[in-house]
Amino acid sequence: MQASLRETATYSIHAYPAHLINSISLRRGRRATLRPVLPQDAELEQQFVATLSQGARFNRFHGNLCGLSEKLAEQITCIDYVHQMGFVVTLPEGDDEVVIADACYVLSDDGDTAEFAIAVSDGWQRQGLGSQLIEALCDAARRGGARWLYGEVLAANASMIGLMIRCGFTVRPHPGDEQLVRVERSVYAPMKARRAVRRPNRLLAALNHALPRWLQRVQGGTAKVTPAGRSYERQLLGRVM
Ligand SMILES: CC(C)(COP(=O)(O)OP(=O)(O)OC[C@H]1O[C@@H](n2cnc3c(N)ncnc32)[C@H](O)[C@@H]1OP(=O)(O)O)[C@@H](O)C(=O)NCCC(=O)NCCS
Repeated sequence: MQASLRETATYSIHAYPAHLINSISLRRGRRATLRPVLPQDAELEQQFVATLSQGARFNRFHGNLCGLSEKLAEQITCIDYVHQMGFVVTLPEGDDEVVIADACYVLSDDGDTAEFAIAVSDGWQRQGLGSQLIEALCDAARRGGARWLYGEVLAANASMIGLMIRCGFTVRPHPGDEQLVRVERSVYAPMKARRAVRRPNRLLAALNHALPRWLQRVQGGTAKVTPAGRSYERQLLGRVM
C-alpha cells in the first residue's frame, strides 16, 4: 500500500494560507476582508475587472483588455500559494461578496524575487487599499522566502508611481523599454511613515526640475504605450491571447 501511494504521488497540493486572511481598514471606519484568492473567485475576479475603468484596466494589464477571459481568470485564481500568490479585497454584498481590489505575484525561478501586479476599483482608490495590499504582498513574499518585490509599471502611471514612492520602492527607468519603469523594494524594508512622503505627486511636482529627464517626460505627458516587454501581466496575456 505504502509503495503504491509513493508511486502515484507525482504532485503536491498546497494548503490554503488561511493565516494570511486579514481585516483591513477603509475610510470612515469601514472594514474589508483581505484574503488569499480561491479558485471559486474566478467569476468575482471577472466582475471586478469588468467594472474597472478603461484606464485602470490599461494600467493593470498594459493593454486594451475588455475583460478577463475565463482562462485568464483561472490563471489568476487557481494558484499554488507558493510560487504564485494572489489576494482579493472583498466587501459583503447581499448574501455574496464583491471584489474591490486584487494583487498577485509570481516568484522568479530562484525564488529570490516576486514580480507583482495590483489593482484597486476606481471608486475605492485613495483609501489606503493599495498600500495595505503592498504590505500583504511583502509579508507573503517574505514568508515564502523571497527578498525582493519587483514590478514593471507604465511610466505614465502617476498613481502607481506615487504609491510606489510612498511605499519605499525605488523607481528606475526600464533598460529595454522607455514606456516602462522598474520598481523594486526589499520585502524586509519597513513601510515608510505615512507623513514622511505624504504627497508624492506634490513632491514630484516640486522636484520636477531636478528629476532625471526620462521621468520628467513621463510624468508630464500621455506617452503612447505599446504592450511590449516582459511584465507579469503581459506574460499572462501572452499566454492566453
Ligand atoms: C495605483 C493604485 C493601485 C493605487 O491604489 P490606492 O488604493 O489608491 O492607493 P492608496 O490609497 O494606498 O494610496 C497610497 C498613496 O499612493 C499615492 N497615490 C495613490 N493614488 C495616487 C494618484 N492618483 N496620484 C498621486 N499619488 C497617488 C499617494 O501618495 C497615496 O497616499 P495619500 O492618499 O495619503 O496621498 C490604484 O490607483 C489602481 O489600482 N490603479 C489602476 C491599476 C494600476 O495602475 N495598477 C498598477 C499596475 S501593476
